[in-house]
Amino acid sequence: MQEYIDFIRSLYPDKGALPLHEPAFGKMEEELVVDCVRSTFVSTVGKYVDEMERMVVDFTGIPYAVAIVNGTQALYLALLLAGVKAGDLVITQSLSFVATSNAIRYCGADPAFVDVDNNTMGLSPESLREFLGGCQRDANGWTHIASGRRIAAIVPMHTLGHVCQIGEIARIARESDIPLVEDAAESLGSREGETHTGSHGIMGTLSFNGNKVITTGGGGMIVTSNEALAKKAKHLSTTAKVPHPYEFMHDSVGYNFRMPNLNAALGVAQMRRLPSLLEGQRYVADQYREFFAGRSDVTFFTGRDGLGSTSNFWLNCLLFEDLPARNAFLEMTNKQKMFTRAMWKPLHTLPMFFECPRTDVPVTMDFYNRAVHCPATVPGRFVIEA
Ligand SMILES: Cc1ncc(COP(=O)(O)O)c(C=O)c1O
Repeated sequence: MQEYIDFIRSLYPDKGALPLHEPAFGKMEEELVVDCVRSTFVSTVGKYVDEMERMVVDFTGIPYAVAIVNGTQALYLALLLAGVKAGDLVITQSLSFVATSNAIRYCGADPAFVDVDNNTMGLSPESLREFLGGCQRDANGWTHIASGRRIAAIVPMHTLGHVCQIGEIARIARESDIPLVEDAAESLGSREGETHTGSHGIMGTLSFNGNKVITTGGGGMIVTSNEALAKKAKHLSTTAKVPHPYEFMHDSVGYNFRMPNLNAALGVAQMRRLPSLLEGQRYVADQYREFFAGRSDVTFFTGRDGLGSTSNFWLNCLLFEDLPARNAFLEMTNKQKMFTRAMWKPLHTLPMFFECPRTDVPVTMDFYNRAVHCPATVPGRFVIEA
């Protein structure tokens, strides 16, 4: 295993401690943040937050983007707009970062967990069908038979930037008439064919946390092709204030969820360098792919990259033979200040989601037992000024 650690280290010869991901900043970020500070427009109104939205629209090809304080609140607001209400169930995958299910809970709903599929680590269409098999449809929509609860939405997640079987999932959602909201927090730059993740359902959400491909410090985005939903998202995320030169009129209970201009200034600089950062992510992934090819005790997970979809390789993932091998690698790397991490504990095993309905999730458990998240920081030479 030391050979594997030495290989990963060799990608970063001038680094000591090695995190999973590090933001890549240059002069541009400093200049735009300073400009924003000097403008005094550091809060929810300003040119950078509008510009950030335009840049996300241009890059993803999704017609509308609404900048939000973080990816978790973006997902929460998207679910509210999708009509998720207290007491509902939202079908999602157990293998995800906790924020996916937290956002569902903020609506007063519960996640209903299904399995992920072996090829993508994302929500399995077969498992989704299996869960719907335990539901019945009538004029009011779908009801989970065992609990009597309404199925309000489906939320797949593109794990570590690998595109899930989104075409098939979107088809099931369309045929079932259940709103589809994609948690694309990890998949900026990942596409199904030419189509960016986050565009296959009624809304998608992105995260610009400091550990993502690009960062605004904290930040997120709702993306959609539905103009009315985009307008509602912007309205609700800005305290539902009705525009007026001097009166404070709010027409519903809104949220203070808009991304601050100061964060967006950082984001605009980051968006400018996004193509070269994605190139850097791919360069690192290609090195992993080549090094681990043909080994029998460990596999570098590549999802369906090059097989109809493009992964952004946000984090690199090694699959070991079993739990003891995965634990040994985690121990060795962390002792050597290479801060690898286990896969997130499957959400159905966490105390606050323990009682939620679910299918069997053998693939989820297998990934949890064997996967290690490995460094994917982009080497400095890709941090070029745009
Ligand atoms: C799958 C997933 N969903 C949601 C989020 C939440 O994003 P944020 O940290 O911006 O709130 C994250 C990451 O942080 C994530 O990985």
